[in-house]
Amino acid sequence: MGKDKASPNSHRVATSDDIEVSTYLEIAKEIAGEQSVTSKEAISPAEREAIIVIDFGSQYSMLIARRIRECQVYCELVSHDTPWERIAPLNPKGFVLSGGPATVLDPEAPLAPAYIYESHLPILGICYGMQVLTKQLGGQVSLGTKHEYGHAVLHLSDIDSPLFADLPSSSPVWMSHADKIEEVPPGFKSLAYTENSPIAVMGNDDGIFGLQFHPEVAHTPEGKTVLKNFAYRVCGCQGNWTMGNFINESISRIREQVGNGRVICALSGGVDSSVVANLIHRAVGDQLTCIFVNNGLLRREEVERTFNTFRLNLGMNIAYVDASERFLNRLKGVTDPEIKRKAIGDEFIKVFEEEANKIGKVDFLAQGTLYPDVIESTSSVSSISATIKTHHNVGGLPAKMILQLLEPLRYLFKDEVRQVGLELGLPEEMVWRQPFPGPGLAIRIIGEVTKEKLEILRSADWVVMNEIKKARLYRQLWQTFAVLTDVKSVGVMGDYRTYGYLVAVRAVTSEDAMTADWARLPYDLLARISNRIVNEVPGINRVVYDITSKPPSTIEWE
Ligand code: XMP
Repeated sequence: MGKDKASPNSHRVATSDDIEVSTYLEIAKEIAGEQSVTSKEAISPAEREAIIVIDFGSQYSMLIARRIRECQVYCELVSHDTPWERIAPLNPKGFVLSGGPATVLDPEAPLAPAYIYESHLPILGICYGMQVLTKQLGGQVSLGTKHEYGHAVLHLSDIDSPLFADLPSSSPVWMSHADKIEEVPPGFKSLAYTENSPIAVMGNDDGIFGLQFHPEVAHTPEGKTVLKNFAYRVCGCQGNWTMGNFINESISRIREQVGNGRVICALSGGVDSSVVANLIHRAVGDQLTCIFVNNGLLRREEVERTFNTFRLNLGMNIAYVDASERFLNRLKGVTDPEIKRKAIGDEFIKVFEEEANKIGKVDFLAQGTLYPDVIESTSSVSSISATIKTHHNVGGLPAKMILQLLEPLRYLFKDEVRQVGLELGLPEEMVWRQPFPGPGLAIRIIGEVTKEKLEILRSADWVVMNEIKKARLYRQLWQTFAVLTDVKSVGVMGDYRTYGYLVAVRAVTSEDAMTADWARLPYDLLARISNRIVNEVPGINRVVYDITSKPPSTIEWE
């Protein structure tokens, strides 16, 4: 199966660098017929106060939740048809209605559930959300004939509105709408305008507001202040969503859930599994055993660093398995990217199961599932459900594993996981590690994976990392790595003609791996990387830089 054909079922993932590992385990558990104990109905990490974003499908919905959490107020994103019983335990202090692609003029358009009005809590409607408010509260929306898209300048007409505290009288905002508010609902008034929108902000005295612009995007520099004002001044939130609080709450919840049980966790060296392992270790100490499978497809020093951090520095129980030979044997003669992935996944499950069996009776399986995975997994096109589907066809799943899931990061965004990692005292290099795919270097070697090729790639990759880190670009880039192609070309070194491999360097910027742009690295840096690779890595005589974005390319080459 070629890459093009494989794309509808692609296992490429957007958020968690440990997802590959966790997905296999999830399948294992599914096969065993277990239900996750941390289901969607579970209590949220912050029981004290929350703002709920009702999602109407905007591409920015998740960003709204992130921005509000950055203001230290817990926020969850729920679909517009979520029942009140699911919301009530979160102790909502206010609602946000997101933007969305629909038009309220369509009789089928999704609207806000009645409980948000019946609760008498504050509401902030954004873009489509504002139109929903207008329609449901008796105002008038007209069909936009012209799409207003891009920058606009917002002028405040009511500077005393609590929503506008600390805002200048005029500031840039980002617009993206077609329909517009013709008439505000009874009891509302216009609070701000732009050149094209006489009602860019509306509000009433009951704490219900509508914004025509998007406060959550970076193009609206004062947007976060508006969201913060809504949370604190309108909803009366206290701001108790801190990672310190999260850690404390999480530790007591894990203790309660696990009791005297035993927990296993697959450690990959990535930030998610590292934070999960650390949190659980703090909660239940030696009741946790981490299984660290060396698949032989990791980068230089990765095994040693991960092992030292967890076993030596943190004193955790680690079952380390060097399965490199096993994986290499399994990959012999395999050139197709999808078959490579399946072989690695399949082998991983086998090794993991063998190790887990050695531990004896185990009750819980810890996973680094993150909030975006949870949100995405509800969508039929999500990468996770696609992964699970593909891997269901893989043989050798551990049918005997009867485990409950422990997912302490289920409600966290990646940046929050990093903050938790820092608060827990994990090394910075682990906390800020760039995503590394589950199948590791195998999908960065085009064609068959061999020991020799792995060594060549490790050396080339080491140079790339080293130079990127020296240039202090590591954290700004989503991923940076070397790819060993199966192309050989002629070169000349001294008086000798060489015939060596071509290495490609890939460096991309991205927010979430769904799209990515190739990084405009300085020429001098590229020159250093190229020089060092050809001089330091035997077998390489040519280096190229990949200047394609995603789409149409992918980040990885296989
Ligand atoms: P692509 O290459 O699809 O990658 O643009 C998007 C992100 O997903 C990572 N990736 C994987 N991660 N197993 C993983 O755990 C995989 O099979 C896999 N393939 C790609 C990739 O590194 C990037 O961050």
